[in-house]
Amino acid sequence: MAFTLDVTSMTEPAVPAGVRDDDWPSLAERFRAAHAAVTAVAATGVYGYRELEAQAAERAKIAAFVAETDGQYDDVVVLGIGGSSLGAIALRSALLPTAWNARTAAERDGRPRLHVLDNVDPRTITGVLSIVALPRTIFVVISKSGGTIETLAQYLVVRDRLSREGLDAAQHLAFVTDPVKGALRAIAARDGIPVFDVPPNVGGRFSVLSPVGTLPAALCGIDIDALCTGAAVMRDATMGSDLAHNAAGLFATLQWRAHEQAGQGQHVMMPYSDALRDIAPWFVQLWAESLGKVDADGLHVGPTPIASVGATDQHSQVQLFMEGPADKTVTFLRVDASADDVEIPRLEAGEKALAFLGGHTLGELLDIECRATASALARAGRPSMMMTVGASDAWHLGGLMMWLMQATTLAGALYRVNPLDQPGVELGKRLANKELGHPDYAGEAEAPRAGQVPPTPRRLRVG
Ligand code: PA5
Repeated sequence: MAFTLDVTSMTEPAVPAGVRDDDWPSLAERFRAAHAAVTAVAATGVYGYRELEAQAAERAKIAAFVAETDGQYDDVVVLGIGGSSLGAIALRSALLPTAWNARTAAERDGRPRLHVLDNVDPRTITGVLSIVALPRTIFVVISKSGGTIETLAQYLVVRDRLSREGLDAAQHLAFVTDPVKGALRAIAARDGIPVFDVPPNVGGRFSVLSPVGTLPAALCGIDIDALCTGAAVMRDATMGSDLAHNAAGLFATLQWRAHEQAGQGQHVMMPYSDALRDIAPWFVQLWAESLGKVDADGLHVGPTPIASVGATDQHSQVQLFMEGPADKTVTFLRVDASADDVEIPRLEAGEKALAFLGGHTLGELLDIECRATASALARAGRPSMMMTVGASDAWHLGGLMMWLMQATTLAGALYRVNPLDQPGVELGKRLANKELGHPDYAGEAEAPRAGQVPPTPRRLRVG
C-alpha cells in the first residue's frame, strides 16, 4: 500500500454535521465544477509544479554539480524564506537520518550537513556562521523572484564573510532563481556563480520539487529522482474529475465542505511521525498563503491551517481540539511502516503503571495513540481524516507533497480564489522596503488611508 485516505470520521454517523450519504452527489458535482475550472486554467500553463518531466534537464544538471563538487563541502547552508526554505526543511526531517547535523562525516557517508536559515534573526545567522568552516561550506541562495529582502540580506552578510576570508564566491555560492529575472540572476552572470532555474510557472510554495528543494536535497545525498517519480505517480492519480477516485479532490472537497457548511474552517495537520513533522509547517504555508484571499465576490475567505504533531501535542493542543470551539478538522498523517522500531523492554513486572507497556514497540505506541486520539475526537463529535503513507522514503514523500499541492490547487477553485498569488503580503513588503530606503518605494504612502484618523500610540511599559 502506498497511500490511503480514510475519511470515515468526516461523515455521519461517525460525527454529527459530517457528510451524509445524500450529500455525496452534490459534493461530487461541486468537485467536478472545481476540477473543470482548474483544467481550464491549467491549459494556460500556470501549474508548472506538475511539469516534472520538463525539469529532468535541471535535475541532470544538479546531479552533475553534486558529482563535480563531491567531497568539497561539509556544510550546505540554504539562504531563503517561505516557499524557498520550508520544503528543504521538510525534506531534511523526512529523508535524512535523525540528527543528521550532529553525525560524524563517516556516519553521513561524507555528505554535508544541512542548515536552512528561513529568517533574518541575527542570532540564528550568527550561530550558523559560527559553527561552519567557510572554506568547506556552500551557501545555496534561493529566491524565485531574486528580490526578497530577507534572502538578499542573508546573502549580503554571507558574501561579506566570504570576501573577508578571501574565498572565491563562485566556489562557495550557488543560486536558485528565475531563469531570466531578478538581482540574483544578474549577480550570477557577473561573478560566474553556478545557478539553477526555478521555472517561471512554478511559484514559491509549489516549488519543492524544483531546484528549490532538489538542489539542497541532492547535495546531502537524497534521491531526487525517486522523489520526483513518486510525485509524478501521485500527480497522475489526482488528475481525474471523479471525487470518489481523486484523493487530492477528496481531501480538498471535504475540508472546504467542513468549512463552508459546518463552520469548521480551522484545519489541523497532525503528523504522528517525527520524519513527517515538518510537513505540517510546509502544509500550513501552502494552505494559508494559497487560500486565504478575497474571492470572486469580494468576500474574505479561506481556512486557517494549524500545525500540530503527535503524540507530543496530545499534551498540548488536543485539549483544545476536543473541548474548544467546534470549528476544526484534524488531518492525522501517519506512516505505515517505521523503518527502525524499538521494543519496549519488559521491566518493572511488579509495577502496574509500567508492566503492561513491556513487549509493545514505540512505533506501535505512537500508532495506537494516533488511532486513540482520532477515536476520542470522533466520540466528542469532532471530525478528522487519516492520511497514511506507506513509508517515509523519497518516493512516498514526493507523492505526499504532490498530493497536498494538488489538493491546494483544487481547493483554490472550491474557494474561488487564485491559489498561486499572494497579494495580501505585498503591502507589508512595500512598507518595509520604503523604511529601509529602497529607491523604488520612496513614494509609498506612509500615512493611513485617506479619511482615516492616525491612531494614537498606546504603549504600556512594564517593569
Ligand atoms: O510561496 C510563495 O510564493 C512565497 O512564500 C515565497 O516563497 C517567499 O515569499 C519567498 O519568495 P522568493 O522565492 O521570491 O524569495
